[in-house]
Amino acid sequence: MKPFVVDPGLSLRGKILLPGDKSIAHRAVILSSLSSGKTKIENFPANSDCLATVQAFRRLGVKIKKIHQEKDSISVIIPGAGLRGLKKPNKPLFIAESGTTYRLLLGVLAGQDFETKLLAGKSLSRRPMARVTKPLRMMGVKINSRLLPAGRQGKTQDSKQEEYPPINIKGGNLKAITYKMPVASAQVKSAVLLAGLFAKGKTVVIEPVKTRDHTERLLKLFKAGLSIKRNKITIDGSKGMVSAKNIYVPGDISSASFFIVAGAIAPNSEILIKNVSLNPTRTGVISALKRMGANIKITKSLNRLITHSEPLGDLLVKTSSLKGTVVKKEEIPSLIDELPVLMVAASVAKGKSIFEGAGELRVKETDRIRSMTENLRKMGADIRIKRMHGENIVINGVKQLKGAMVKSFGDHRTAMSMVIAGLAACGKTRIDDISCASKSFPGFIRILKGLIK
Ligand code: S3P
Repeated sequence: MKPFVVDPGLSLRGKILLPGDKSIAHRAVILSSLSSGKTKIENFPANSDCLATVQAFRRLGVKIKKIHQEKDSISVIIPGAGLRGLKKPNKPLFIAESGTTYRLLLGVLAGQDFETKLLAGKSLSRRPMARVTKPLRMMGVKINSRLLPAGRQGKTQDSKQEEYPPINIKGGNLKAITYKMPVASAQVKSAVLLAGLFAKGKTVVIEPVKTRDHTERLLKLFKAGLSIKRNKITIDGSKGMVSAKNIYVPGDISSASFFIVAGAIAPNSEILIKNVSLNPTRTGVISALKRMGANIKITKSLNRLITHSEPLGDLLVKTSSLKGTVVKKEEIPSLIDELPVLMVAASVAKGKSIFEGAGELRVKETDRIRSMTENLRKMGADIRIKRMHGENIVINGVKQLKGAMVKSFGDHRTAMSMVIAGLAACGKTRIDDISCASKSFPGFIRILKGLIK
């Protein structure tokens, strides 16, 4: 494969509309499949992760139809099977590389009284699963997984013995539990809440820090028995859900973040990003960049709470001169997937930036602390990792990055972040392989090229 080459000094100008948010799209498919009635989901992102969720529910007997819409967005029509309507698949389910599909599906399969084997691709097979299997076992689910001492594969925080795919799961007859989560993870929260839909009584999840709340918003929209008091979420089991009929998935703020940073650091640039998700549990990237001095304006805010439960709006970003900032541990979940591209912004900002308690980055598709640090250092960035109450990433901005040969490590967000870094460098930047971008954003390069003036 030929490396992808980024030329420096380009200006980016224009208006873009992005495919729907990956996190919301997964959940929309899951809840539509488990509700009664038909749901149409529009602006559904046709990336490989979200299509893995569609494929899994098809294999569980839901007759999902895909309709071509735009280049990378489709509409999907889902005739809901109801809470008790899933069918045992005739062979193991292969989830490819989608961690969200894998973990949330474990929550759904916890409620099924048949046994399923969940297989995973190479990178997902190295990601920790004990964080989900532990609360599900407390609910009475039978789970067998691949066991290894922690640290042999993905590093993990809360267990000496870690668990990895493949996983065999047999659920049914669930007990409601109260679960105080040791890790701030929306995937864990969602898996337990989804299992709670099938349990007798009230399942309670307590979060250490608020994480993305798309599951809760959609559960409410689908009329599940949900109540929320600060960080305590309660789901009343066996109530069933009714289809929300039409869902429009707002543009993905994680995909938008590459263009927000690009607009801020590329010379003489101005980008308008239409209909982006502005869910407050996801807008940490905007807050952090604004503190850094980025010229970002929300030009139109549509609160479509009634129709699809998620706020969205238009963002205008212009070339800015950035300065360093401190991102506190509590803020990390609101920008966890945007940290790689924020590390790029911090590398060219004036002064010091600190990202506190960012250790969860080590257990994403790749160890993103390592992938981004190695790559940005090759381009002349000044980055140190300090271990104190978790891991802090400390970056002293440099005047200019210099082009280099870097690697995607097979990780979509590392690949796209390095393309953005190349825009602000002097000299050409080469990235070994960016085909992995299609995991979340197959149209990334096409949209970027459309902005080059
Ligand atoms: C996601 C939650 C986050 C995020 C991931 C998507 C979700 O993971 O990094 O890309 O859709 O719930 P954690 O919940 O493990 O932090």
